Amino acid sequence: MSAYADTVSVCEPLAVLGRDVEVPLVGGEKVSYAALDYAASAPALQRVWDDVAAYAPYYGSVHRGAGYLSQLSTDLFEQSRATVAEFLDLRDGDQVVFTRATTDSLNLLASVLPAGTRVFAFETEHHASLLPWRREDVGVSYLRAPRSPQEAVAALDQALAQCPEGPKLVCVTGASNVTGEIWPVRELAATAHRHGARIVLDAAQLAPHHPVSVRDLDVDWVAFSGHKLYAPFGAGVLAGRSDWLDAAEPYLAGGGASRSVAREADGSVAVEWQQGPARHEAGSPNVIGAYAIASACKALTEAGFEGLVAREQYLIGRLRAGLAEIPQVKVLTLFGEEHPRVGVLSFVVQDWNSSHFSAALSAEYGIGVRDGLFCAHPLVRTLLGGEEAPPSECGAPEALPGERSLNAIRVSFGAGTPDEHVDRFVAAVRELVTEGARWAYRTEGGRCVPDTRRQP
Ligand SMILES: Cc1ncc(COP(=O)(O)O)c(C=O)c1O
Repeated sequence: MSAYADTVSVCEPLAVLGRDVEVPLVGGEKVSYAALDYAASAPALQRVWDDVAAYAPYYGSVHRGAGYLSQLSTDLFEQSRATVAEFLDLRDGDQVVFTRATTDSLNLLASVLPAGTRVFAFETEHHASLLPWRREDVGVSYLRAPRSPQEAVAALDQALAQCPEGPKLVCVTGASNVTGEIWPVRELAATAHRHGARIVLDAAQLAPHHPVSVRDLDVDWVAFSGHKLYAPFGAGVLAGRSDWLDAAEPYLAGGGASRSVAREADGSVAVEWQQGPARHEAGSPNVIGAYAIASACKALTEAGFEGLVAREQYLIGRLRAGLAEIPQVKVLTLFGEEHPRVGVLSFVVQDWNSSHFSAALSAEYGIGVRDGLFCAHPLVRTLLGGEEAPPSECGAPEALPGERSLNAIRVSFGAGTPDEHVDRFVAAVRELVTEGARWAYRTEGGRCVPDTRRQP
């Protein structure tokens, strides 16, 4: 248990859907599913599900309808926006735009950058923060993987110092989706602002685990996804400064984004676009998605982040202590194993192909993790030693002894994870490493699966 968890009371896991779901093992028996892939998509909080179910009969159109349920749904949508603004501790004048998810949020921000903007991102970013900036009239500089937070700040400082005048944007992830390591966001924001640059925080992996205060971190925008924040109803958020958002063409053209559309004498149409969030929310809004996010924000705030963080640190401590006793396991890290992280950890196992290992965890123990390059190819390749990985192929189930795995295994958890899931995971890793898989595996459609035609 970490020192932090010793001083703050560790809360109970929050109730999530799926906690009693049983899944079949390859041998025929059933076990309760251990969902350890929260970093991809977290289970819905029971509270979120209950809130959505209670609202569902009252569901109606938003911003377009005179009926009672339309009015109610419009109010709920706008209240959800206010709840998210409070959750993120936004400044006066900031706005909350509801999107589909983090990827959508960052593509929206990329679409509103003033022409000539220079964007700076570390090559360690998730592809969602790495790729949206590749516009013809925007320049992107990718900064090499830093090996410490101080190196990250120094590299950004140097890059910005050499950048000519003009609009600049820095994009940084709050917590890595590969290593779980927490990035020095406040320091990077201060560096960006010292050079007249703006900064967007990709909080997809941070917001589900830690409070995110836009005011305190002093970032210009923040993006996150509902489905990673226990609210899997297809919505996400981009929140922050209004000026670039209000000055740009709408992200999507259509109803809701337009205040008025008039036919011109020459046969064309003149459009007056909305200001504020509606400008970038064309089409019928996803009121259930927005309400689910607001419900999750309230549930996490009411549960108390202190206790949630303490619980997660306690689980991380348990996980790390267990894995440390298995010498064949190599944990991937950029800033060093002791660096603070959220409940996300990637590793490779000596003499094992990661896809084979993950398939065995699922088929023989009912444990769901992820294997691959985690949509962060440059980072994972750096951490693995730089080889080119084949495109998501399982390949030979067992790598040759001593051969380095070309992809990694990621275990991730959060507010709904019971101790038993982490303990079962550590015990399963130990057993697989010492005794091997009990079943034979083969590749099918790019996935490693138990070969049920062959008995173990
Ligand atoms: C750090 C990070 N940023 C962005 C994303 C993209 O999120 P989404 O797939 O919800 O758009 C992810 C998803 O894994 C992520 O981990």
